[in-house]
Amino acid sequence: MRIHSLQQYFEEYKKSIENPEKFWENIAENFYWRKKWDKVLEWNFDEPNIQWFINGKLNITENIFERNLADFGNQTAIIWESNHIDEPSQHISYQQLFEKVTQFANVLKNQGAKKGDRIAIYMPMVPEAVVAMLACARIGAIHSVVFGGFSAQSLSDRIIDAQANILITADGAFRGAKTISLKNIADEALEKCPSIQKCIVLERTKETIQMKNGRDIWWHEALENTAIECEATEMDSEDMLFILYTSGSTGKPKGVVHTIGGYMVYTTYSFQNVFQYNKGDIYFCTADVGWITGHSYMAYAPLLAGGTMVMYEGIPNYPHAGRFWEIIDKHKVTHFYTAPTAIRALMATGLEHVKPYQLDTLKVLGTVGEPINAEAWHWYHTHIGKGKCPIVDTWWQTETGGIMISSLAGITPTKPTFATLPLAGVQPIIVDSEGNELKGNDVEGNLCIKFPFPSMLRTTYGDHQRCKQTYFSTYKGLYFTGDGARRDEEGHYRILGRVDDVINVSGHRLGTAEVENAINENPLVNESAVVGYPHDIKGQGIYAFVVLEKDAQTQEKETMKASIISTVNKIIGAIAKPDKILLCSGLPKTRSGKIMRRILRKIAEGDVSNLGDITTLLNPEIVEEIKKEAGV
Ligand code: PRX
Repeated sequence: MRIHSLQQYFEEYKKSIENPEKFWENIAENFYWRKKWDKVLEWNFDEPNIQWFINGKLNITENIFERNLADFGNQTAIIWESNHIDEPSQHISYQQLFEKVTQFANVLKNQGAKKGDRIAIYMPMVPEAVVAMLACARIGAIHSVVFGGFSAQSLSDRIIDAQANILITADGAFRGAKTISLKNIADEALEKCPSIQKCIVLERTKETIQMKNGRDIWWHEALENTAIECEATEMDSEDMLFILYTSGSTGKPKGVVHTIGGYMVYTTYSFQNVFQYNKGDIYFCTADVGWITGHSYMAYAPLLAGGTMVMYEGIPNYPHAGRFWEIIDKHKVTHFYTAPTAIRALMATGLEHVKPYQLDTLKVLGTVGEPINAEAWHWYHTHIGKGKCPIVDTWWQTETGGIMISSLAGITPTKPTFATLPLAGVQPIIVDSEGNELKGNDVEGNLCIKFPFPSMLRTTYGDHQRCKQTYFSTYKGLYFTGDGARRDEEGHYRILGRVDDVINVSGHRLGTAEVENAINENPLVNESAVVGYPHDIKGQGIYAFVVLEKDAQTQEKETMKASIISTVNKIIGAIAKPDKILLCSGLPKTRSGKIMRRILRKIAEGDVSNLGDITTLLNPEIVEEIKKEAGV
């Protein structure tokens, strides 16, 4: 499965394009299938219908555990590092993790879980979050992990959409100096979720919580007298493994569906090749389990590859801004994978927080989630990698399940701010706005993918039309990523950011419509428009232009802004909190009533030199008012 040289990369890439079925079949053969597939691939992007390893039977947890235990049962699977610097870290071996997973799988069964059920997970960054995911996979239940920073409403929306029957949560989560009362938030969410029969609660913060009779059960009590052995449920390659909700240009997050066989094969293959992970290496991915990176390159791929990984409960700057570097030294981390926003935030705290650490075990650095600017790239390369670690800038998405474009550490070239070359099996193309392919090098346009790869999304849960509409209808016969990209003179890809109404805040995707809907829930708000603007740390910040209801327009501005922020916190969660709010008496609109976001974007960026012709607007005078208020 592993590529060892640049020449081999080109050869493998060529093979993967000329005969994708043969290429992926060879890779899939490295895994344990209870029954081999009848056919490798069936596909049609118009419907879309994408199936890999058809009629293959397997269980992904057998590939993590039974396939490997005889070789390395005693090896550490997870090194867990607490939020609290003085709490001892945990080392969990493969054998121990296996037993935790199978025992908890029995708990789920005892609570009525069956193959095909949807189970929501709303957890802190503790090993039990991974145990919960793998226990679902063990019995064929479909997990839907909801990021612990989301609000009660976001949680209930996701539970309702998936019709989950079990929620797995904790009393609370430690995040830096704060605690998040997960169970209280969950209780509020569950008032609206009649589908939930049982709620399993892990004890972590030991805060006081309410346990509802008949519905709620403590994790540790549920384990008492529960058998450890649990036979894996036989699954079809195309059965669902998980649903993960993500934002798009419309208001409602959609449940991206990944299926078992293709996801397993592609995430493992990409992990081994991009990171060039070797036995004995210690891999540290800082992503939360609530995001796709936490699924693919924390929970699944490193374990499928038999790796040892560090899982960290806390935040980068608590109790001090050297915490990541301290963890790297403490656990002798060789591979470190994080988001540009974290790099920028730590860079801003100054080198005195890096200097006390050796960082000499590091071999490979990675970034994910958003474009990395040249300054952050060089800082990361020089001060963390000491100039000797290749940086893999990995471009991919919730929908792709695995890394699509990235250098392979130490094998293919790196180039600051470029994701560089596609992985084997990935066929990116750049098109113009009409969908014409821009061939050759030195071109810029919209990034699409023209051939299926095993870990591609299969549908959006409960609404296949939406999947078709969002990803496969913009350009006929192509999967549209929503990103703009440039292919340079050497054929290297540089991702330019979203070309749709999605903003990428600290590597998290938010639809502008989703944030607007939340703001508009505030009874004092008449209407709003949200755009992204360049932000030094977050990459993009959220700029909200808000028109208040008539009687609220005379109120004190700061009070109004605080009220809007609290509404957004309540509806979505703190990650969607606007960085700037501008109160105005109207929004610039066309004569047909469409909001002119282009103008608002320019104002938010502070560049009003070329606003275009505004005389055709319904209300051109409003532009002056907004410019004045924005101070541009
Ligand atoms: O715009 C791209 C950006 O993040 C989007 C995907 O977001 P999400 O599904 O939340 O997954 C993030 C983790 C994979 C993409 O459409 N993005 C992701 N990685 C990069 C990136 N932009 C530039 N460079 C990257 N390496």
